[in-house]
Amino acid sequence: MINSIVSKKSLGLSGEIKIPGDKSISHRALIIGSSVNGIIKIYNILESDDVLATANALKKLGIIINKISSSEWEIKGNGIGTLEGNNPFLDMGNSGTGVRLLMGLVAGSDVEVTFSGDYSLNNRPMARVIEPLLKTGAIIKHNNNTLPIKIRGSKIPLPISYNCPVASAQVKSAILLAGMSSLGKTKFTEPSESRDHSERMLKYLGAEINTNRLKDGSCEIILNGMPFLKPLDINVPSDPSSAAFPIVAALITPNSEILIKNICVNELRIGLLYTLIEMGAKINISNKREINGEIIADIIAKSSILNAITVPKSRAPSMIDEYPILAIAASQAKGTTIMEGVEELRYKETDRISAIVEGLCVLGIEANETKDSISITGISENASIQGGIELDSRLDHRIAMSFLCLGLVTKRPIILNNTETINSSFPSFFGQMNQIGANLEYITTTNNSSND
Ligand code: S3P
Repeated sequence: MINSIVSKKSLGLSGEIKIPGDKSISHRALIIGSSVNGIIKIYNILESDDVLATANALKKLGIIINKISSSEWEIKGNGIGTLEGNNPFLDMGNSGTGVRLLMGLVAGSDVEVTFSGDYSLNNRPMARVIEPLLKTGAIIKHNNNTLPIKIRGSKIPLPISYNCPVASAQVKSAILLAGMSSLGKTKFTEPSESRDHSERMLKYLGAEINTNRLKDGSCEIILNGMPFLKPLDINVPSDPSSAAFPIVAALITPNSEILIKNICVNELRIGLLYTLIEMGAKINISNKREINGEIIADIIAKSSILNAITVPKSRAPSMIDEYPILAIAASQAKGTTIMEGVEELRYKETDRISAIVEGLCVLGIEANETKDSISITGISENASIQGGIELDSRLDHRIAMSFLCLGLVTKRPIILNNTETINSSFPSFFGQMNQIGANLEYITTTNNSSND
């Protein structure tokens, strides 16, 4: 039995759409929250499969987490380095963030843990966290640098200084989380700055952590070990990576104007908004304000005529999860959009470069790839894409939602198979999109010809 969603032409999107809590910040609220001294409340937490996997893993490691009401949870932190458990088996489902950050936390506690995940997660590269965590003194058994991984942490890990070859918030956070239990300074350097939610949250809770932005674009973060983390409540802003879907859908669908409130507009997350505005998008960002160390704002997006641009490599970390939906915008823009320096997309829930290019080519759009770039030539004026095809999600929530957004403007519907994966990050996508005027319908079939 496979769950599919069919997306049909929409007459226009309008009204306010509610976007759930940010996935990155929800994971961190739980993981860092498990190390505070006392009880904290987390408001607007994302109740998605990925975040639930992290919560369940923490519960197996002795942390008490209770749901108070919808999107409001309470977590009782026991202080730093206090995880417990006798080699629990932790199924992290589809969540790369969950597993990589928890590996860091486990490296700084006197426990042994086995991590595994679904087909997609078990095929993702883990060397990027294994290598630095070994330097902290953790003992790690792995399957050719993939899951399942058994890791034994140490009560007092070594403080390390690590020069990361890629900009990665997951690797950075794993190292900082291990560094919390060490008696000294942990230093992490990355070639360009990745999202800094861990640093902001640690600072908000009272840790001594400093960021130095260097002239060549690289960035170093230094954390003092054994911080005393205060039990302060965390309000999770809404997720800009989820908001990206209705925003692009509104830009490409005629007669559209939508409003989204309380979106996280951290500069390291909104490369897509800058890119779309450069392409001619009518996007208005207003009412900027701060909550627990993060900046939020309200956004209005209207139907727009888009022009192709070249998106430089330097922008990639600030929009790394948004390339699939940018590709959909590019398919509707005048000219050839080029996305440079995006090799990291090959190591996400699926190889997103190939999923984007393959999907667009099936739809008759000119799309090409190199090892680390994508180029997409948009349809000419007054033309529209035929549609009438089936695609597979490849167990990638963002690939599924992106092509469903394209189905709103194709002549004939687009069917996406294996869409349960959308629950990884945006469980209310179907209902919320239909509420503003999308035309999505569930279909259940027993045979899946396009699924590989
Ligand atoms: C995330 C970091 C990003 C992003 C992922 C979430 C995080 O990965 O793709 O969806 O919460 O730290 P990188 O490790 O490539 O930065």
